[in-house]
Amino acid sequence: MAAREPYDFSGRVVWVTGAARGIGLACARAFAAKGAQVVGLDLQLSDLLRECAPRSAELNVADAEAVSHTAAALAEANLAPDVVVNNAGITRDSVHWKLSEADWSEVLNVNLSGAFHVMREATPLMRSLGRGSFVNITSINGERGKFGQANYSAAKAGLIGLTKAAARESGRFGIRVNAVSPGMVETELTQQLPADVRKKALEETLLGRIARPEDVANCVLFLASAMAAHITGQVIRVDGGQYL
Ligand SMILES: NC(=O)c1ccc[n+]([C@@H]2O[C@H](COP(=O)([O-])OP(=O)(O)OC[C@H]3O[C@@H](n4cnc5c(N)ncnc54)[C@H](O)[C@@H]3O)[C@@H](O)[C@H]2O)c1
Repeated sequence: MAAREPYDFSGRVVWVTGAARGIGLACARAFAAKGAQVVGLDLQLSDLLRECAPRSAELNVADAEAVSHTAAALAEANLAPDVVVNNAGITRDSVHWKLSEADWSEVLNVNLSGAFHVMREATPLMRSLGRGSFVNITSINGERGKFGQANYSAAKAGLIGLTKAAARESGRFGIRVNAVSPGMVETELTQQLPADVRKKALEETLLGRIARPEDVANCVLFLASAMAAHITGQVIRVDGGQYL
């Protein structure tokens, strides 16, 4: 039998959370283009997602019970994941002394607990397959802290801790866990930002442009692929040098 090409995902199932648009949609398209059966999981599906991932389902990752039901239904439908991209994320920006309890909790619940809920359900399914790979989308703002984003920075820093702990716990089952840490990416999330914030990010970026969602998806694809077979517990920045 011919060896599998390292970026060949045919016969593989990939779950992508927050896949209706932006970085998640770019990931869904990248995996589908490499032959994967992609299951996009989002609060609200989009036509663009349905085109590349017809088996997608509506899901709020912050709702632990809903995640549990969806994971069981997917496993029952022979859609247990080889790869999970934990990408769903939101912002509710404010300086920490003005941050409401609701805005703190919502961001932690979606950006951090959401990934935990999905990992808790997906890991036993991957263990049955004897292989698996998680790629969690954190942010350089989780690494350096960001003015006006205490909730978001805390959640994204927490996601790095979760990634590393899960990598330690899952390595013996052949399951790898890594994170991608983007700088500013051109998506609906950042299009609403004030012009001066976008200008500052562009100035910080050494390559003279803001990332496209595909720049992040390429790294996610690499980490999930056989090319990264000996990489686990890592955080890789895709930021054009913005963090430096
Ligand atoms: N855009 C950037 O500059 C940037 C930079 C670093 C990290 N990130 C991270 O990348 C990820 C994707 O960002 P984006 O810019 O594509 O965002 P986006 O707002 O364009 O898309 C996010 C998607 O997640 C979905 N979503 C939100 N809450 C959800 C929930 N509870 N359950 C399921 N789906 C949910 C939304 O419906 C949407 O489709 C996020 O985790 C974000 O924090 C983005």
